[in-house]
Amino acid sequence: MTRRRTAILISGRGSNMEALIQAARDPSFPAEIALVLSNRPGAGGLDKASQAGVPTAVVDHRSHPDRDGFEAAMQAQLQAHGVEFVCLAGFMRILTAGFIARWEDRLINIHPSLLPAFRGLRTHERALAEGVRIHGCTVHYVVPELDAGPIIAQAAVPVLDDDTAETLGARVLQAEHALYPFGLSLAAGGRARREGQRVRVAGGKPQPALVSPLLD
Ligand code: GAR
Repeated sequence: MTRRRTAILISGRGSNMEALIQAARDPSFPAEIALVLSNRPGAGGLDKASQAGVPTAVVDHRSHPDRDGFEAAMQAQLQAHGVEFVCLAGFMRILTAGFIARWEDRLINIHPSLLPAFRGLRTHERALAEGVRIHGCTVHYVVPELDAGPIIAQAAVPVLDDDTAETLGARVLQAEHALYPFGLSLAAGGRARREGQRVRVAGGKPQPALVSPLLD
C-alpha cells in the first residue's frame, strides 16, 4: 500500500492535528504526515508537531499583501515536501477557488457541526440557541463555497440540558478526534468516492439511530 504524503494546515492549538499524527503512526494507515503548515507563527500546534517529529513550516498570511501571494507561498511549501493530500485542521483562512481547484478531491476539512447546519463560526453557541438535541462534526471535501463540500463522514453527539457552549464544544471536539482520522483514511485510502455532492463509502454499514434525550 502506498501511503499518501499528507500536509495538515493549522492556525491554532492543533488537537485535531495531534489525532491525525497519532493515527498515521500506524504503518497500515493510508496517509503519512509529511508536513504541518501554519499561517500563524505562534500556533500551539507547531511545537506539538515538532515534538512528534513531523516537519513544520510557517507561511504567515500577514507577510503577503494578497491571498494569491500567500497561497503561492503555501503551494511552494507543499511542493517542497512532496505533499499529495491536504487536511485543514482548525485552519482559519479562506482559500481561493484557484487553490481549491488545484487540490480538488485531495483537500478535506473538519467542521464542528453536522453540516449543512451551522456553517461558519460559533457553531456550538448557535446549536444551543436553536435548541437542537443532536449536534456533532463533519469531515468534508473542500469546495469554494464555505463549509459546503461533499460530506465524507459525520459524528453525532447529544446536546444535554445543562450544556454550555464550552461543555458541548468539548464533547464535539472529542468526537472530532475520532472522526477526522477515520475520514482521512476513507479519503486518502480510496474508500470514499465523490459523486457530485454525495460521497459513496465502500463497505459502510448502517448504524442504529442516536436518540436524544434518552430517558430511563
Ligand atoms: C476544531 O473544533 C475544528 O473543527 C474547528 O476549529 C477547531 C480547531 O481545534 N474548525 C473550524 O471551525 C473551521 N471552520 P484544534 O486546533 O484543536 O484542532
